[in-house]
Parts: sequence; C-alpha cells; structure tokens
Amino acid sequence: CGIVGYIGKREAAPILVEGLRRLEYRGYDSAGIACARNEKLTVFKSKGKVRDLERSLPERLKGTTGIAHTRWATHGEPSDRNAHPHTDTSDRFAIVHNGIVENAAQLRSKLQASGVTFRSDTDSEVLAHLIAAMPADTLEGRVRGALRLITGTYGLAVIDAERPETIVVARNGSPVVLGIGDREMFVASDPSALVRHTQSVVHLDDGEVAVVRADGFETSTLDGGATAKKPSTIPFTDESFDKEGYSHYMRKEIAEQPESIRRTLSGRLDTRFQTTHIGGLEMAARELLEIRRVKILGCGSAYIAGCVGAHLIEQLARVPAHAEPASEFRYRNPVIEQDTLYIAVSQSGETFDTLAAVQEVKRKGGRVLGIVNVVGSTIARECGRGIYLHSGPEIAVVSTKTFTSTAVAFALLAIHLGRIRDMSTAHGARLLKALEALPSQVEEILAMEPHIAKLAKELAPHESAYFVGRAAGYPVAMEGALKLKEISYIHAEAYPASELKHGPLALISPETPTVVIMPRDDLFPKNISTLEEIRARSGPIYAITHRGDPLPVAVNGVIEVPKSEPELDPLLLNIPLQLLAYHVALAKDRNIDQPRNLAKSVTVE
Ligand code: G6P
Repeated sequence: CGIVGYIGKREAAPILVEGLRRLEYRGYDSAGIACARNEKLTVFKSKGKVRDLERSLPERLKGTTGIAHTRWATHGEPSDRNAHPHTDTSDRFAIVHNGIVENAAQLRSKLQASGVTFRSDTDSEVLAHLIAAMPADTLEGRVRGALRLITGTYGLAVIDAERPETIVVARNGSPVVLGIGDREMFVASDPSALVRHTQSVVHLDDGEVAVVRADGFETSTLDGGATAKKPSTIPFTDESFDKEGYSHYMRKEIAEQPESIRRTLSGRLDTRFQTTHIGGLEMAARELLEIRRVKILGCGSAYIAGCVGAHLIEQLARVPAHAEPASEFRYRNPVIEQDTLYIAVSQSGETFDTLAAVQEVKRKGGRVLGIVNVVGSTIARECGRGIYLHSGPEIAVVSTKTFTSTAVAFALLAIHLGRIRDMSTAHGARLLKALEALPSQVEEILAMEPHIAKLAKELAPHESAYFVGRAAGYPVAMEGALKLKEISYIHAEAYPASELKHGPLALISPETPTVVIMPRDDLFPKNISTLEEIRARSGPIYAITHRGDPLPVAVNGVIEVPKSEPELDPLLLNIPLQLLAYHVALAKDRNIDQPRNLAKSVTVE
C-alpha cells in the first residue's frame, strides 16, 4: 500500500492525488484522502484506482494539511468502507496505515465493548479509535499511547482536525520517508511520491516517530528519546517517471534493459586482472575464501533471479549455491551456517518476507549481503553491504529490467568469487567481454518484437501453457511462466524439461502449448528429445534457442537469440519471454502495468 502526506502553504489535495498516482504500483484496490481545515476533516475514499477517487473529489477540496492512501487489501475486501483514511467516531482524527495490526481482533472487541462502532472490516481502523481514546494532550502523545497497545507492523500517518499544524508519522516494519521542502513537508511510503517536489529526504528507522510541521520535523524513538537524522538525496528525478511515448511502463522498462545492464556493470569490470570490482561488497578475498555455500533469498521474480544467480555462482565459482523463497526460509527455522554467504534479492528493498529472512539470518549470526535496486531501502540498509543494481525506478508491477540486472549483478559476484578461486584469467576475460556485449545483444532481441508479437497472437487464445528448460534454462522457464500468468492471466506452469515425462505430459495436447528453453549447449540433444515427446502428443511447441541448423523436429514457432558465454545465456533467453508475455497480454487487452490482485512492493507478510 502507499501513503502520502502534505503539510505547508499549498492546497494539499492535488499534491496528495499526484503522489498517490506515483504510488499506485504499490496497490490499487482502493484509494482515499483526508484534509484538515477549520477544525474539520474532509474525507473521500473509494474502491478502485486513484483516477476513480480523483473523479469523486469535489472541485475545491480545501486544506493545507492532508494524508492519502492507495490500498492493496490484506484484511477486508477492497471496498469504499475499507479504503483508508480511517477516522475515529467523532471524525477528528484520520489515519492511513500500511502493515498489519496483529492484535486487532482483541482491541476491536474491547473498543466495541466501550461503545465504539466500527465502520470498516480493517485491522487499521482500531488505530483511529485508540488514538481518539488516549488521554494525552498532543497528537504525538496520543499516537505513542496507541502504538504501545498494538502489536504488528506499521507505516502510519495521522492528522488531527483540531491541530492541523502537525502530521505525526511512525514506522515499524513498513517504510516511511519525509520529504523536506521550502516551508513545506511531505510524507510518503516511497520517495517516488515526493521527487516531483524535493530530492531531499529522511528515511525513518523502525521504532521511530516523527512530528512533521510545515517548517520542519523532529524524530524520536517510541520511548521518546530524540534521534538525529541526516537528509539524503533521492538518486533519480521526476523525469524517470515519464512513459516517454511507450504505451506501458512494462514496455518502456523492457526497452531500458541495455541501459540498465550498462549501469549495473558500470565501474565494476576490472580488465587488468580480468575480474570484477564490487565496491559495496566490503568483504576481503580472505573472508570470501571462507565461504563454502551460498544461499539466496527473495520473493517472486527476485527469487527466480536468485535461481539464475545460484547457477552462475555454482558454475563460475564452484561454490554450492541454492535459492529459496524468503518466506519459506524464514518460517522453517533454518540452520544458519557460519561458512554460508546469504544473499537477499529485492528490487524494492522493502518486501517484508525478504526483510524478515535477512533479520532471521542476522539474529543467528549469519553474514548477509543484499542485491537491491532502490538505494537506501530497508533491506539495503539492513544488509549494510551488497550490490546496487542502479536500474532506475521500475514502475510496472512485473519486473523486467531489474530481473535482468539482478542476473548481471550475480554474474559480477560469481566472477569475483570465481577469480579468487579456480577461474582462469582467460575465462575471466571471456566473461567480461560477454558481459560488455550484453546490451547490444539485448537490442538485437528487442528488434525481433514483430516476430514475437506474431507468436503471441497464436498463444493468446490458449487457456494454459507449459514452460520447460533444463539446468540454468529452468529458471528462465520459471520467469517466463510467471510473467505470462501475471499479466495475461493464462495459466502458465514451469517444469524442468526432464520432469515432463513424469507427470505433466498427461496434459500435453493440441490445446496446451509448450515453450521450450533450449540453448545450443551440452544439453541441446536432450532438449531435442523433449521436443519429440511433446510433438508425439500433438502439443504446439515454441522454441527459444540460438541461431543454428534448423531444428530436427517440427515446431510452431522459433525465437533465436544471440549466443553469449554459456553461463550468461539465460539472461538473453529470458528477454523474448518478456516480450511474449507483454504481447499476449496486449492481445487480451489486460491491464499490463497493474495486473489484478497484485502489487509491486509487498510490505506485509
Ligand atoms: C511482488 C511483485 C513481484 C516481485 C516481488 C518481489 O510480489 O508483484 O513482481 O518480484 O514482489 O519484490 P522485490 O521488490 O522484493 O524484488
């Protein structure tokens, strides 16, 4: 979910609505806004997108202090009444809340017993009533009092109609940043909502409360001890949010991949020693040599990028490496080993499950580093060391350029680990050259778009599809299937090609196409057998392969990508699958940038 707040001289509503638009990728089930003026709150909220809210706003919604929210439902269906802001019974206090109040049910019964009538099914509403019920004089005192009674996570902003000179915000497990303007202040769950107004921001830490006024702010811990915060600068500008003529952010971000790869590589290739230089790693060769295993943690596409990374590390550094979904890891009471390097992968740096996994590793004394896109994000700060992708903002809910850049970051790390172990200078040199060639090879694949769009039209009418690959081709199949299901809603399943005959073959028929990831490598002959198996059941086949002799089995479509070093091939094999999913979704007229039920940054469990 996304939070925005404004306090200053200008009318808050237009600033808040604009901020919400920027945050919509965090959730778009419902949206709402509350402004304080003349001791009264005005609240508007509605199910649906920010533009639906905007339409319902009266011309002149007044007030120079306000908060707003765009929601991704966890507790309570998306509806007008469950949309934030929530208010207390007297409509004096309004709150917007990200996170989960875990003891909401008990608090709700207690409040109901004392006569409070609830107006929504959300866990968040208890906060509004608790704040109203506190005996404290100041809004800050009330918020502190309420927070003492709840367990759970929050990024919270609160206003008081009777005291519109402050917004009180608090953070525990869900990000909050303050934006510093000229005699005006901004609040948001993500700097992208603020960058239009200021690039100077302060990230709150967990357990911090801030009192925000038009002319400044104070931060303190939950117990009231003052904290000192240094503003930092957002490393991108408002222009990064322009669609630049593309009809979708996803398509723009696919096109940005050559540049995004260059930025991830920038300054990190060491052609003198044929290795890589990773400034944020902060681990000397001696420490890196102690590593006996690598464990990669992430969610969604970040997890799958981790699977690509595990292959790269195992192949190039010959260190056993394995990726696991961060949430599975944290809940199975994992054994943390001293000689394992844990790597957290996250585009946003805010995914709650990934953050919790990092905290679990750290609590048990493990060493962890982050591969993260958003600079200064929670996971990046929690890890304290790692590799930034520098891909620039990714807005489409589904990840494209950051998936590729994450794989590039893993390649950099794998080469680094390999070169202090057994990788030869010549092998290092070949890999560096191959990395440098990636941007222009991606351009070549992007130029195949008309052909890929044609194949997408054939796939679009099907109800389900398989994606298969072997070894490092399997994560490519996983990402291809995930992308297709996320944005086209076609049921897509990835399988190791070798496992096809152990089950899914039962479902292969003329109705169920299979996309086969088959680089021309050592396993190519095995993948030819896979084609035979599918063809024998009359299943349509789409092969993603390299240029070469015609395939010996008849297929419905072929996409041939340029060849890289074998270990880096998965990066290029994935690119056409992004375009394929995009064009299937386009043919089906789906909401590509904001697929149903999903959000880009999931800051709850
Ligand atoms: C959500 C998004 C996915 C994303 C995942 C991890 O589920 O819908 O597209 O891959 O979160 O996000 P992160 O920011 O941690 O990479």
